[in-house]
Amino acid sequence: MKKFYITTPLYYVNDEPHIGHAYTTILADVMTRIQKIQNNDVYFLTGTDEHGQKVQEAAIKNKTSPKEHVDIYVNRFKKVWNELDIEFDDFIRTTEKRHTDRVQDTLKMLFEKNEIYQNEYEGLYSVSEERFITEKEAEEGNFREIKRLKEKNYFFRMSKYQSKLIDHIQNNPDFIKPESRKNEILGFLKKPLNDLCISRPKERLKWGIELPFDKDYVTYVWFDALLNYISAIGWKSDDKLFDECWPADYHLMAKDILTTHCVYWPTMLMACNIKLPKTIFAHGGWLMDEMKMSKSIGNVIKPLDLAYKFGSDSLRYYLMSNMVLGQDASFTLDSFIQKYNSDLANDYGNLANRVLTLINKNFDSKIPKTFVCNEYDLKLINHAKEIPNQIINDFNNMQIHKAIDLIMQLLRSVNKYLEIKAPWKLLKSDNTKDREDASTTLNISAQVLKIGTVLLNPIMPTKTNLLLSAMGVNSCNNYSFGDLKTGTQISKLKNLFPRIEEDK
Ligand code: MSP
Repeated sequence: MKKFYITTPLYYVNDEPHIGHAYTTILADVMTRIQKIQNNDVYFLTGTDEHGQKVQEAAIKNKTSPKEHVDIYVNRFKKVWNELDIEFDDFIRTTEKRHTDRVQDTLKMLFEKNEIYQNEYEGLYSVSEERFITEKEAEEGNFREIKRLKEKNYFFRMSKYQSKLIDHIQNNPDFIKPESRKNEILGFLKKPLNDLCISRPKERLKWGIELPFDKDYVTYVWFDALLNYISAIGWKSDDKLFDECWPADYHLMAKDILTTHCVYWPTMLMACNIKLPKTIFAHGGWLMDEMKMSKSIGNVIKPLDLAYKFGSDSLRYYLMSNMVLGQDASFTLDSFIQKYNSDLANDYGNLANRVLTLINKNFDSKIPKTFVCNEYDLKLINHAKEIPNQIINDFNNMQIHKAIDLIMQLLRSVNKYLEIKAPWKLLKSDNTKDREDASTTLNISAQVLKIGTVLLNPIMPTKTNLLLSAMGVNSCNNYSFGDLKTGTQISKLKNLFPRIEEDK
């Protein structure tokens, strides 16, 4: 059976992981969990890009060897992913043999097929971008450390695939998303495409995969790194896994690395006779505000620190609900606190608290029965039966912020319903009908709270799992109304989202 295969970029290990890296990785984790609650089989790959000039320079700066440098930094990424509840299936490092072997196989095969040739080339080279650039690109001013180089190098016949690539993009509307990015790439492809320089002489760069047909050269870092998407899933080493995963359903990234993924990568695959990925999705960038210091919050200076202070769920929730996929978004401490307090502490946390406390106190900690339903009960039941399909649809269409909005609306409607029905008052009455109405109200509230919690699970796995297990629910893949059986034993739960008190 085909697995839903999703990837993040392989991050450079020249720096600490930051909120931008965390965003794409959380997004991939959320999309993976969205598939899981729908009972689909998923394969989620992330990892690190460890060769090339940037890493070599970072090692020199830290006065270590590149190998020692990458071994230290890779663990920092893995540690942060663990703290953010990222559950990947595989983590690939481009220095691993399973990857370097496949890169060398590919180079050898393409060289033998005459898809790679040697040539002397003179042109402008951007040291910071590690590639040759055109005169026009240099004039546009987006490149740093430009120098003129004349060198013998190896080139991949990328230009040969230009029209085939244009056709593929035009015939497969989901290949590059969102639409604006697709148009950007089609615009780029209006100009003649050059062949791609895929080697670097060892005199200039030692830290890379040696070309199998010329030991004086290493492989250009992008030609090496892009191949991870197939080397990790067993291309030419584990046919079963490869066939289950490929073609990838989603390559996720920000728009900064669109060209390498939408032009270099598909043409490399075409030359290797491998199918192209289904969707390359580029989200926008997070724009950072200076994070203000706050007395009560402490030394929170980096957004990732918010996860350590308030739990990874709160950061995941903020990132997923505050970015419209495809557009840029701003990260500010004020909006983080505001969102946390209003959505998580007030609307969701209080609801969970209220429902569990009332059932624990008045119904012997068991999900109570339903009796006769009135119009308010039926209205909420209908809402809770209809809305999950729309939420799942939004999730599947990368409208994650919309799906979260709908879940929060559903949970808020339970809060309103409780205010109207006031079961705490009904429970004080001596009238049986009133007590039955309270029982019905709390059953329905618990059912809807459970649905909302299962649907929020991909976004906030830790807290929702705590709440589900307090509600006696062990599996996290049923969001249909009525699934929570009468009589189910529930337990007490500490406040899930304590309010963040701001400095006055
Ligand atoms: N090593 C290459 C990718 C090779 S993939 C075969 C690379 N690495 S990177 O460390 O620079 O990571 C870039 C990616 O990090 C972006 O595409 C995006 O996924 C993420 N982000 C980095 N900064 C970001 C923001 N400010 N906002 C959103 N995402 C950001 O490029």
